[in-house]
Amino acid sequence: MRLAVIPGDGIGPEVVTEALKVLAEVVPSAEITKYDLGASRWHATGELLPESVLSELRQHDAILLGAVGDPSVPSGILERGLLLRLRFELDHHVNLRPGRLYPGVRGPLADSGEIDLLVVREGTEGPYAGNGGLLRKDTEQEIATEVSVNTAFGIRRVVADAFARAEQRPRKHLTLVHKTNVLEHAGSLWSRIVEEESLAHPDVTVAYSHVDAATIHLVTDPGRFDVIVTDNLFGDIITDLVAAVTGGIGLAASGNLDITRRNPSMFEPVHGSAPDIAGQNLADPTAAVLSVALLLDHLGERESARRIEASVAFDLATRDQNSPGSTQAIGDRLAALV
Ligand code: NAI
Ligand code: MG
Repeated sequence: MRLAVIPGDGIGPEVVTEALKVLAEVVPSAEITKYDLGASRWHATGELLPESVLSELRQHDAILLGAVGDPSVPSGILERGLLLRLRFELDHHVNLRPGRLYPGVRGPLADSGEIDLLVVREGTEGPYAGNGGLLRKDTEQEIATEVSVNTAFGIRRVVADAFARAEQRPRKHLTLVHKTNVLEHAGSLWSRIVEEESLAHPDVTVAYSHVDAATIHLVTDPGRFDVIVTDNLFGDIITDLVAAVTGGIGLAASGNLDITRRNPSMFEPVHGSAPDIAGQNLADPTAAVLSVALLLDHLGERESARRIEASVAFDLATRDQNSPGSTQAIGDRLAALV
């Protein structure tokens, strides 16, 4: 197993160290190559993602990313030049974000009931495709456009993947989240493709929710959701809400997948570089560790993935929720448990 690791900035390297500690327990033979990308490299050399690095990344089975970003870098540079560029170059069209409220974890909702859902977010289209621009900049008549790109090909591959995942889960339920009442054109295409794909998966029940209503239901009745399939922007927003109601950003893991497996998929905690707590051994590495479980699952190492999840579940059920321990202490516990 050849893994490329991008520790990144802020708490990125801290949580990645612990995630690799846990990985070493389950797959000691994994070959790790670290790549220095992110704010510090950009400051030092002006480079974001050199072609040579990109082609080396392509030679790996998967990529593990900590987080990139720093207040000293103008907004958008790393997001577009590094993170989005990786997702587009490596065709990460399925963004996978599980949301599970583990037993013992105190979420912000008083009585949420069980939460165990999976958001399958489209990763390469929508308003994030970079189709837009500024006209008449710095005049009173300035025009800004961000065109949402929705292709039948792009929607179908993510919807098919979501159905396949729903089929593997006990509840076999899929909800399309969109805004078909206002975004009529994109909404129509999404709806028709979900309907068409549902014919190939008769055992999966299908529901629809407008994205605004989905934010209500994710707070008042999150248990109704099993698999959610949605576009790039809606998925970005609702997965932060999912992370919040399932115990916070320190636990939320994600995968950016090329399901054709032509390119390595990339796994990362949902959180950023958290400059406010960086360097203090305070970050919870659990999201990074769970991202390793997603990575192993994707590479077919299901048994190892389950072991990591079980260790996290045990640790979350038994840890002191008010003082879960330092970054390193949590990593040590998980490595010992696994
Ligand atoms: P953030 O996720 O870094 O931090 C938000 C809040 O959550 C902060 O109070 C932070 O201390 C806390 N937090 C985050 N991860 C935590 C963890 N593992 N354990 C405990 N607490 C944790 O988001 P923010 O502050 O908006 O962004 C900081 C930087 O990270 C920015 O430069 C941003 O662009 C970048 N970023 C990078 C991402 C990535 O690499 N994929 C994703 C999101 C933001
Ligand atoms: Mg986000």
